[in-house]
Amino acid sequence: EAAEKEGYDHFMLKEIHEQPKGLYETLNRRIEEDGSIKLDGINMTKEDIENFNKVFIVACGTAYHAGLVGKFAIESLAKIPVEIDVASEFRYRDPFVDDKTLFIAISQSGETLDTLAALREAKRKGARILSVVNVVGSSVARESDDVFYTWAGPEIAVASTKAYTTQLMCMYLIGLYMGRKKEVISDEKYNQYMSELQDIPDKLTELLKSESSIHDLAKELYKKEQVFFIGRGADAGVSYEGSLKLKEISYINSFAIAAGELKHGTIALIEKDTLVIALATQDKLYEKMLSNIQEVKARGAYVIGIAKEGNKEIEKQADRVIYIPDCMDEVSPLLSVVPLQILAYYIAKERGCDIDKPKNLAKSVTVE
Ligand code: G6P
Repeated sequence: EAAEKEGYDHFMLKEIHEQPKGLYETLNRRIEEDGSIKLDGINMTKEDIENFNKVFIVACGTAYHAGLVGKFAIESLAKIPVEIDVASEFRYRDPFVDDKTLFIAISQSGETLDTLAALREAKRKGARILSVVNVVGSSVARESDDVFYTWAGPEIAVASTKAYTTQLMCMYLIGLYMGRKKEVISDEKYNQYMSELQDIPDKLTELLKSESSIHDLAKELYKKEQVFFIGRGADAGVSYEGSLKLKEISYINSFAIAAGELKHGTIALIEKDTLVIALATQDKLYEKMLSNIQEVKARGAYVIGIAKEGNKEIEKQADRVIYIPDCMDEVSPLLSVVPLQILAYYIAKERGCDIDKPKNLAKSVTVE
């Protein structure tokens, strides 16, 4: 096992570091010489794509969180309404699905029972099934009409890291592909997206250099027993994933909420020294996030901000700031989740937790 960890203390840390490579593979295996996207494993024609009037994204856990961001990407790029659900809810609520529905299942293992059952239910109702899966030949992959593989490589740690970021990459590619086929996306926007996505692996390599400063931060924070993650837009989706990462491996009670919702209840829990991790990477929502940070600061919170390099205004509000490389708002989840993964990892480590095998959790849940 030590050899498999390649010098890292845990699989989770190794897998965090494998993300630039996983993202590079997931993207570059799909780009043709002329810059167009080749969705190997997907055989949808222009007519098929034009026939869809709705997309359903269904998944569990971290894969569901990838879907939250995927919804944004597909709606804006392919101009089609996207609903998202956790698989255990979807299966029991008689969702409206027919032969004009594209059902997208996201699953690292491809063996999660709830996801598989939801897929079967959607298939029975006539939907076309596209899955985004990491494990080749898994049940979800075998039962889908089209399969789009994440090239993350084997993920061993229970807490998912590289599967999440490569799932995100797949969602952008699916959105771009559909948008292109439907001719609802301009060449300029397409090219801008593609070049932003292509820059991500190098930016991530750069970002991983801040590991030791995030470790120092973890040493300050590891005794906290409660954490709130807040964000808006794409950052809200990442907040959920950051919160899940922290709670599953450190057992700290963490909670994520769209920042604008704070005032409708959750802010009642903010008091002196409550830890709030505020994602503020969306340029168009930056000012709004600064006022949300002010709101929690006014109640005594200790705030760690996550922002894009150059957006220094946040330093006036937050107690500490972790910067990610500058990028287009839409693709920032590919970067902003990484400091949250590293922070969760080192907080769990400082607390002496069994990081790769957290209590009560399984890598793949094949029971209801
Ligand atoms: C389990 C794992 C999570 C994972 C979820 C969905 O709960 O611990 O890390 O996100 O299952 O798994 P899947 O293989 O379908 O992505």
